[in-house]
Amino acid sequence: MKIAIAKEVDAGEPRVAATPDTVKKFKALGIDVAIEPGAGIKSGLLDADFTAAGAVVSADAVKDADIVIKVKRPEAAELAKYKKGALVIAIMDPYGNDAALKVMADAGVSAFAMELMPRITRAQVMDVLSSQANLAGYRAVIEAAEEFGRAFPMMMTAAGTVPAAKVFVMGVGVAGLQAIATARRLGAVVTATDVRPAVKEQVESLGAKFLAVEDEEFKQAETAGGYAKEMSKEYQAKQAALTAEHIKKQDIIITTALIPGRPAPKLVSAEMVKSMKPGSVLVDLAVERGGNVEGVKSGEVTSVDGVKIVGFPNLAGRVATSASSLYARNLLSFIETMFDKESKSLAVKWDDELVKATALTRDGAVIHPNFLPKA
Ligand code: NAI
Repeated sequence: MKIAIAKEVDAGEPRVAATPDTVKKFKALGIDVAIEPGAGIKSGLLDADFTAAGAVVSADAVKDADIVIKVKRPEAAELAKYKKGALVIAIMDPYGNDAALKVMADAGVSAFAMELMPRITRAQVMDVLSSQANLAGYRAVIEAAEEFGRAFPMMMTAAGTVPAAKVFVMGVGVAGLQAIATARRLGAVVTATDVRPAVKEQVESLGAKFLAVEDEEFKQAETAGGYAKEMSKEYQAKQAALTAEHIKKQDIIITTALIPGRPAPKLVSAEMVKSMKPGSVLVDLAVERGGNVEGVKSGEVTSVDGVKIVGFPNLAGRVATSASSLYARNLLSFIETMFDKESKSLAVKWDDELVKATALTRDGAVIHPNFLPKA
């Protein structure tokens, strides 16, 4: 059996799907590993590191591979080089991308979306949403600190006192929790909001203050899967009224609010941005799904009357070495469930809940129930 590590074709994607550590583990299982030249360079991993771990560096790495691992969904030109029937495992961004799913189906590969991994105990080690969001939340605070003209911690010096920065985190999932923890470590005074009631205790346990409209709808806002529901217009208006006053007094706002399969909720209006003091900074982690902040531009830092809005996509990629290392471990753990150690061969259990939840295409067709072509 052979696994190939593909080099990302997207110039904005510095992560890689394997590390010398995971290559060693694949080799120990008896799996051959090939990697495209330069695949790890933007994550600080040299071809020589992969060779030392037992991989073959080759421009033809994906040819004949039984499994191709990637960070981003492959395009048609990449798919053309893969073997028919190969498993292709990546972060597939499937929602709203029906045409791209059909291209993968037509290429005859079995495509798996790592971000659809169920959030159950057995699959925690394969949870890319968590491994990447955690780093993105950390990095969001670092980006904010970079753009902010003042210090985060309170400093009492002979020349005067620097006040602590006030940070407001909107949306407290995995990324938001790490943003709170990071901002607290830097010495900021932190508040946070979310529509799921379970979050309140988590926010307070990190030493931050929770702020939300805690009405009946709020009490029902969490789905069985632990995600947020899209809130009613009435709730959103009450939420906006409550946060508007608070936002005026903040130095830094980090937004991370997402609803699975939906556009990101708009939480900060242009007026709210205008109400902030010049020098304040907003970092919008939801930018790839339309953004939580009105006026955010993907890939740019924009300035509105001296208030900066940071819209970098792929914040986890801005800590590429750490992100690749965790992502590679997520992949290794998933692939181990598809491998028969006795016969040293591929043994996908198509009725396993992890496989059923993540498999997008097989035998020339889209098979995932959420993405079946409309009749
Ligand atoms: P996410 O990335 O889907 O959303 C981020 C946050 O935005 C969520 O906390 C959500 O409630 C919030 N949000 C949505 N609409 C909002 C609005 N209008 N205003 C304010 N906030 C809003 O969430 P993530 O990080 O994927 O976490 C979702 C859930 O999954 C959480 O309950 C988390 O604890 C849980 N989880 C479970 C794991 C497991 O059991 N293995 C692993 C990781 C997370």
